[in-house]
Amino acid sequence: MAIVYDQSQHIITLHTEHTSYQMKVDKEGVLLHTYYGSRIDHSDLSQQIYHFDRGFSGNPHHLGKIGKTYSLDILPQEYSCFGTGDYRTSALRVQNADGTQAAELRFVSAEILPGKYALEGLPAVYADEQEAETLLVHLNDCYSDIEVTLQYGVLPKLDVITRAVQIRNGGTFAVTLQKAASMNLDWQYDTFDWMTFYGRHTMERNLHRAPIQHGIQSIGSVRGASSHQYNPFSILCESNTTETTGGCYGFSFLYSGEFLMECEREQLGQVRLVCGIHPDNFAWVLEPGASFQTPEVMMTYSDSGFGTMSHRFHQTIREHICRGKWKNQRRPVLINNWEGTYFNFTGDKLVAMAQEAAKLGIELFVMDDGWFGKRDDDNSGLGDWYPNEKKLGCTLKELAERVNAAGMQFGIWFEPECISEDSDLYRSHPDWAVKIRGRKPSLCRNQLILDFANPDVQNHIIEQLSGILSSAPIAYVKWDMNRHICDKFSPSLDDEHQGEFAHRFILGLYRVLETLLHRFPDLLLEGCSGGGGRFDAGMLYYSPQIWCSDNSDAISRLDIQYGTSFAYPVSAMGAHVSAVPNHQTGRVTPLETRGRVAMAGTFGYELDINKLSGAEQAEIRQQIHFFKEYYNLIQYGTYFRLREPSSGCSVWEFAAADGSEALVTGVFNHVESNAPLVNVKVRGLKPHQRYRITLLQEGEGNPPWGINPEFIKPYSLSGLALERAGIVLPPAWRDYHSWQLHIVEANGEV
Ligand code: DGJ
Repeated sequence: MAIVYDQSQHIITLHTEHTSYQMKVDKEGVLLHTYYGSRIDHSDLSQQIYHFDRGFSGNPHHLGKIGKTYSLDILPQEYSCFGTGDYRTSALRVQNADGTQAAELRFVSAEILPGKYALEGLPAVYADEQEAETLLVHLNDCYSDIEVTLQYGVLPKLDVITRAVQIRNGGTFAVTLQKAASMNLDWQYDTFDWMTFYGRHTMERNLHRAPIQHGIQSIGSVRGASSHQYNPFSILCESNTTETTGGCYGFSFLYSGEFLMECEREQLGQVRLVCGIHPDNFAWVLEPGASFQTPEVMMTYSDSGFGTMSHRFHQTIREHICRGKWKNQRRPVLINNWEGTYFNFTGDKLVAMAQEAAKLGIELFVMDDGWFGKRDDDNSGLGDWYPNEKKLGCTLKELAERVNAAGMQFGIWFEPECISEDSDLYRSHPDWAVKIRGRKPSLCRNQLILDFANPDVQNHIIEQLSGILSSAPIAYVKWDMNRHICDKFSPSLDDEHQGEFAHRFILGLYRVLETLLHRFPDLLLEGCSGGGGRFDAGMLYYSPQIWCSDNSDAISRLDIQYGTSFAYPVSAMGAHVSAVPNHQTGRVTPLETRGRVAMAGTFGYELDINKLSGAEQAEIRQQIHFFKEYYNLIQYGTYFRLREPSSGCSVWEFAAADGSEALVTGVFNHVESNAPLVNVKVRGLKPHQRYRITLLQEGEGNPPWGINPEFIKPYSLSGLALERAGIVLPPAWRDYHSWQLHIVEANGEV
C-alpha cells in the first residue's frame, strides 16, 4: 500500500519504493508537513516539531494566553494561506466578497483511491491502478465556505509523487483567488542549494546553482508561456550533492504558461518552496458553487544524486506523460527546410530536397514557415492557414504526394496562436488579436497574439487546422509560437474576469491541442516556441518532442542539452544537424560531431542537403544507419551525464536498462596541445560482467600526428572496473572533436 492513513494518530504517510512523505493533522486541525525524504516507516515524525514563542509570530485567538507558542508563522504546513498569521510567502491567497484577504484551512477528511487522479483540461501524469494511488485531503476555511482539496498521486515504482489542488466556493458570494499554487513544501531543519535553469532565446536552460539565502528567491514567467528565460523546473539539493551522491528534490511543473517557483528561507532558517501559476497576471473569480483546478507538479527525492532524480523524471515523462502512437514507436528521422531555405523556396525546391534526403535514409520531410497566405518574410500572413499554391506551384495535397512518392512522409509547420496585422484573418477579425482596449499593443517579430482565451478563436483554429490536416497526407506538425504575451485582455471576458486571461489562454491552447490529437491520433506533434521557449512537462503531454533551441550549433547545444537533461528525456529534445558555418554562432564543427550531438536528441537534419558534397552525403547516410541501429539504446536507455560541458569535454552515456550495452559520447570544446587525458566512470552496467570496449571509427579526416594505436584497439573490462576505474577518451586533435565508444557484453562473468 503506497498510502497509509493512521486515523488514530491523524498521520498520513505516502510511500514510494525509495521515498516517504508524511503529513499530520495537529490538535488545531492544521495539516502539518512532517517529512519528505528517503524511505522510512510510518513513525510519527511530528516529534521534530517544537512549539516556541518566537516573538512577533501570531497566535490563534481561541488559544488565549496558553497559545503563545503556537504559530502558523513557524509551523511546517502542507498548504499555507495568506493573511492569517503565516507571514512567509504562501500558497493560497483568497480575496473574500468583503474585500478581505484571509483564509485559514482546517482538516476535514481524507480519501485514498486506486489509480492516479486525472485533471480535466490540463496535462497530468497518468497511471493505472497497479501503478499508482491517489490521496485526496479535504480542508475547509474556518470562517468562509472555501473548500480546498489537496490531490496527491503516488507512483511507487517511479518514486514520483504528484500534487495539485482543487478549490471550491461552497458559499453564496463570489470570491477571487489571487494566488492558487499547486504545492507548498516546508522543511524545518535543512539547508539547500537551489538549482534553476535560466536562459534566453537561442541559449536555453543554463544551470544555475546557489545556496538559498534568507529571503525569497524565485524564478517564473509572466510572458504567457513557460519561457526561454526560466524553465518550470528546479532542484533543491544538499551543498555537496553530485551526479551520484547526496540528496536532492526535483520539482517539475506540468504547465506551459505563467508560473512562479519561490524558495523562502525564513527567520529561523526554515525553507519553504511554493510552486504554481504566477499570481501577477492571475485573479480568478470563483462564483458560488464553482471550482478551480490548479495544474500539477511532479516531484521526486533522490538520496543518490542528480542522476537518479533525472532518470525518474525521464521515465515518468516517457511512460506516464507522453501519450499515443509515438510514445513507444520509433519516430522518423526528419529533415526540416528552415535553415536550408528560410522563406525562400518553391514546391520544386522542397521536393528536390526531399528526394535527395530520402536517398540517405531520412524518413520525414518537414516544410517549415512560409507555405501559407502571403508569407515571404515575417511581416505578414500569420493566421491565413491556406496554402500559397502560387509559391508551391501545386496544391498542398500534390506537394505532400510528391514527397511521399520520393519515399518520405510529409510534415508541416504552423504557428496557430499568432496573427499578423497584414493578414486576411486580422482584417476580418481585428478583435481576435490580443490588445487592451484603447491602447496600441506591443509587436514582437512584427506579430500579435491570437486570443486563445476566446472559445470562438479556439474553434476557428481547430476547424482551420483540421481542414488542412485532412486535405493532404500530413504525418507531422511543428507547432511554433514566436512571441510572448503582454497587453493581456480578452473581449470575450467581462471586465471583472480579465485576471483570468493568462490561464484561460493556456486552457484554450490545451483544448485546441487535445481536440486535434483526438481527431488526428496518428499525428506526430513537435512543440516549439522560437526553439525551447515552451519546453515543459505540460507540453510533453501533447507533443512527445519539442524543438530544443533555435541554436543548432553543436557546441552551444552541449550546454543546452545538458541543462535540459536534468528534467527531460532525450526522446523529448528536438535536435538537428545543421550547416556550417553555423547560422547562429558562425562556428564550424565537424559533421560527425554535429551528428553525435543531434543523436543525444530526437535526431534530424536542417540544411539544404543538395548543397553538400558526396562525401558529406555519404557520412550522413552512415549517421542515419548508426542512429537507427542504436535507436532503442539512445531513446529508451538510461541517460548518464558523465562530464559537464564546462569541463571542456562533455561526456554522456546511454546504457541499456538490462546493463547489456552502453554507448559513450565525448565532445571536446577545443583542441589543446599535449592535453591531459579524460577519464570517465561508466555507469549502469553489471558489475560482474565482462564487456568489450570499441572505439567507433572516425568519419572524417586523419590525425595530424597519428593516434596512439592503443586507443583504437578494442579491449575488455568488467562492469565493476568500468564503473570504478573508468575508461579513457583519446584526446582531441582538432577543435570540436568527438569520440564514441561502444561497450557491449562479452562472453563470461568475471
Ligand atoms: C522559430 C522556430 O524555432 C524555427 O525553427 C522556425 O520554425 C521559425 N520559427 C520559423 O518562423
